[in-house]
Order: sequence, then structure tokens, then C-alpha cells
Amino acid sequence: MHVIICSSPEEAADLVAREILDALSRKPDLVLGLATGSTPIRVYDRLLHAHQEDGADFSGVRTFNLDEYIGLPPAHPHGYRTFMHDHLFGGSNFTRENIHFPPTEGPDLVEKCTAFEAKIRDAGGIDIQILGIGSNGHIGFNEPTSSLASRTRITSLTEKTLRDNAPFFDAGEPQPSMAVTMGIGTILDARRILVQAFGLKKAEAVRQSVEGPVSSFFPGSALQLHANVTFHVDAEASSRLTMQAFYRRSQENVKELEAKNVL
Ligand code: PGA
Repeated sequence: MHVIICSSPEEAADLVAREILDALSRKPDLVLGLATGSTPIRVYDRLLHAHQEDGADFSGVRTFNLDEYIGLPPAHPHGYRTFMHDHLFGGSNFTRENIHFPPTEGPDLVEKCTAFEAKIRDAGGIDIQILGIGSNGHIGFNEPTSSLASRTRITSLTEKTLRDNAPFFDAGEPQPSMAVTMGIGTILDARRILVQAFGLKKAEAVRQSVEGPVSSFFPGSALQLHANVTFHVDAEASSRLTMQAFYRRSQENVKELEAKNVL
């Protein structure tokens, strides 16, 4: 695992957005796995800026979102389609047919989940997966005890996740307690995984994911099984890591090799 301890969430977003834009310049039909929540918003701001100010062209990019609630109509203000429209798709030139969300409506929802996996494969697999982590360790909506081999499927949300997400719903508004999520196995198939986590409330999730044992009880720890993951964390989110000095020194070593043109 690579851990980059950033001076701020802004620096983390700069690094993640830069990597996506570099990949886009090499592959105009890049396949992106996208996340919702507060964590990736700064990255999406930078992608929008790159489109609006520097002409970055997303028209060939294929996108697959990680998860979506069951029970919300597609245009619901708190659905993840709306989130992605508001924070990225609406202000840029992604092509509608290239945008994919996990299916959430029947009939045959299980078969549709299998078809979603097939669409990812048909696109050639995900090149870069953007991820946040829930404070309970979930990635996507893979809650604790999700199989490390799980694929896109219907899942229930834990009490903890329901509480964490309650502020996004208006008082008295019914909050969905089920979702469809890419599985942990689906996420691990991505060629590159860029994780971000910020603030003290994520410190334990980062510690368990990076330094804890691999366990389905803490889904973020499954990322240890992937060969090309980078965690971008701020000082607070890194505060419970026991090997901070090592991560910082590794960062310096990489910079030194880059400066010498070794990489
Ligand atoms: P957040 O959520 O980005 O809003 O902190 C992350 C997650 O629950 O996966």
C-alpha cells in the first residue's frame, strides 16, 4: 500500500485529479469507477475546472458508479445520480451513454446486477477507481462482513451507515436502508485504486485499512490485497497510523527518484 500524508484535502485532491487527467491524456476512453459522498467532491471540482478552463475532454470516458440506493426514483435529490450530475456530469462533457450506475429497479434486479458487471468487463475493466471509506470501514456500500470476493449485488445498510448518512436526508423524509453496490471483488479488479480519507473521524478507518488485519469485518482492509492502491490522507486521518514516519520517508524517496528521472 502507498500512503501519502498530504498537507490538506486540497493537496490530496490535486494529486488524485492530476493522476486522472494524466491518464485521460494517454487514454481518451478511460474507464473510471466513481464514488459519491463528501470525500471525492474536491476531485470532481478539479476535473470540472480542467474541462471548463483547460479543455479537458471527457466525451470518450466511460464511468461506473460504485453504488446507489434502492427505492429512490432516478431524479431524487438525494440519489447518487443527482449527486454526480450536480458535482461532475452536469458541468462537463461526459456522454450520457457512457455513464453507468448500478441498477436499482426490478424486475430481475439480480440479473441486472450481473449485467452491470458484464458492462464493466465489456468496457475493458476499470482503469482508475476513486474511493472514500466509511467510518465503519465500508467501501462502496460493502458493509462489515461483506465477502472479500463479493460482486455487484443488493445489500442492506448498517445502523452506523444509516446514522452517518441521515444528515443528507430532510427531517421526516424516508431514508433508504438498502442499496446496490459494486462488490469488494469488483473494486479489487480495478487496475488502479485512489483512496482519500480526511479528518479525525476517518483515522480509525484508515488505521484498520492500512495496518489492520485483512478481514471482511473491516472491508477497507481488503485493499491490502490489491497491488496498486494509494491512500491520500490528511494529518488527522493519518493520526492513528503507527508507521507515519516510514510513509513520509517513502514519499520523500519517491520524489528523489522522480527528480533524478529514475521513475
Ligand atoms: P464520505 O463517505 O465521503 O461522505 O465521508 C465515505 C463513505 O461512506 O464511503
